[in-house]
Amino acid sequence: MKFPSRLLPFVFLSLLGCQTQTATPPLATAIPLKEATRGHFLVGAAINAAQITGKDRAGVALIDTHFDTITPENDMKWQHIHPELGRYNFRVPDKFVEFGRSRGMWMVGHTLMWHSQTPDWVFKGEDGKDASREVLLARLTDHIRTVVGRYRGKVKGWDVVNEAIRDEDGLLRTEKPWYRILGEEGIFAAFAAAHEADPDAELYYNEYALENPVKRAGVLKLVQAIRARGLRIDGVGSQGHYGLDWPELSEIDDSIKDFAQAGFKVMYTELDVTVLPRPTNYFGAEISKVFAQAPELDSFRDGLPAEKQAELAKRYADCFAVFAKYPGAVTRVTLWGVTDRTSWLNNWPIRGRTDYPMLFDRQDRAKPAVAAVIEALQAAPQR
Ligand code: G3I
Repeated sequence: MKFPSRLLPFVFLSLLGCQTQTATPPLATAIPLKEATRGHFLVGAAINAAQITGKDRAGVALIDTHFDTITPENDMKWQHIHPELGRYNFRVPDKFVEFGRSRGMWMVGHTLMWHSQTPDWVFKGEDGKDASREVLLARLTDHIRTVVGRYRGKVKGWDVVNEAIRDEDGLLRTEKPWYRILGEEGIFAAFAAAHEADPDAELYYNEYALENPVKRAGVLKLVQAIRARGLRIDGVGSQGHYGLDWPELSEIDDSIKDFAQAGFKVMYTELDVTVLPRPTNYFGAEISKVFAQAPELDSFRDGLPAEKQAELAKRYADCFAVFAKYPGAVTRVTLWGVTDRTSWLNNWPIRGRTDYPMLFDRQDRAKPAVAAVIEALQAAPQR
C-alpha cells in the first residue's frame, strides 16, 4: 500500500500504536482527521504553551497531522497577555501566531472578554472600589484594539465574549463585574472594538451548555441584540464539554437548528468527553485527599477498560454525526486539547484525576474514537 509522503509520519505512529494497543484499527486511522472532515467543517485543537513553543514534540506532530485550525488554550487570555495595567506580554501569543501562520492554519483568538482569568486590577478604580463605567469601558476597548490589532489579518476569528449568560435563567451574569458595571453595553462595545481593529476577522460569542433550552434562549436573544445593533457577529461558539451520556444527542441537534435558523454559524469550540463523574460536593478537591472515601471518583487510574473505550468512541462518533448532519451550518469543530495527558479535565472539577476525554491517549496514540469519527463522517452528507 502506498501513502503520500506527508502522511508517512502518521502512518508510522499509527502502526506503532497498533503494536501496543490492539483496539486501534490501523487502516482507518491512517487518514488524518482533517482529511476526513474536509467537505464538512474545519477541525481543530486548543493548544498549550508547551505545544506552541515546540517542547511537546509529540503533541506538535499530532497537531500537524490532524488539525487545520488552532486556538490558544490559555495564552491569549487577559491574565496572560495583559497582566498589569499598561503591560502586555506577547511572547507566547506571537509564537502561537507564527506556529499557525507557518503551517497555513486558521487561527482563532481566545478570548477578549471573560469573567475568568482576568486580573482584579481591570475592575478596580484608584480607590480600590469598582472602576467607573467610563474607566472599565476604556480598558476593555483599549485591550481589544491592542490585541486584535496586533494580529490583524493573521488571527481569522475571535471569541470576543465568553460565557456572559447564566445557566439557570438565561440572563446576563450581572453578579460578575463586567456586567454589573457595564451591562449589555459592554458586550456591544467589545464587538465594535474588535471589528474596528480587524474588519476582516470573524467575530463569535462563545458559551457552554447551549443544549439547555433556557440558557440557549438567553444566548439567542443576546446574539440577536448584537446583530440588531448593526454590529458584526458571525457565529456562536458552542463549547461542547460533554459526558458519555449527557447531553442528549437530540439536545445538541436542537441547539444547532436554533442558531442556524437564526442565521448564525455554529462552531463546536471546546469539544471533549469526560468519562468521570462530576459530584458537586468535591468541587476543587485534590483527589489524593478524597480517594480513600470515594474511589469511584477516579476509577480508571490504571487504564480505561475496553468497554469504556468503546463507549467513548461511540459517543464521539455520534456527536460528529450530529455536527455533520446539517451541511454548512457547523463550520468548525475544535477539540479542547490534543491528548489525554494534557487535558484540563484531569484537574477539574477535582484536581489530579486520570480522565480520558480526548481523541489521543497519554502515549499520543489515536484512540478507537478517531476511527469511529472518521467512519461517521464518511457516512454523513457533505456541503
Ligand atoms: O501553569 C500553572 C502552573 O504553573 C501551576 O503549578 C498550576 C497550579 O494549579 O496551575 C497552572 O495553571 C493552570 C492553567 O490552567 C494551566 O494548566 C491554572 O491553575 C488553571 O486554572 C488553568 O485552567 C484553565 C481554565 O480554562 C481556567 O479557567 C484550563 O487550562 C483551560 O483549559 C480552561 O479553558 C476554559 C476556556 O478558556 C473557556 N471555556 C471553559 C474552558 C474550561 O474551563
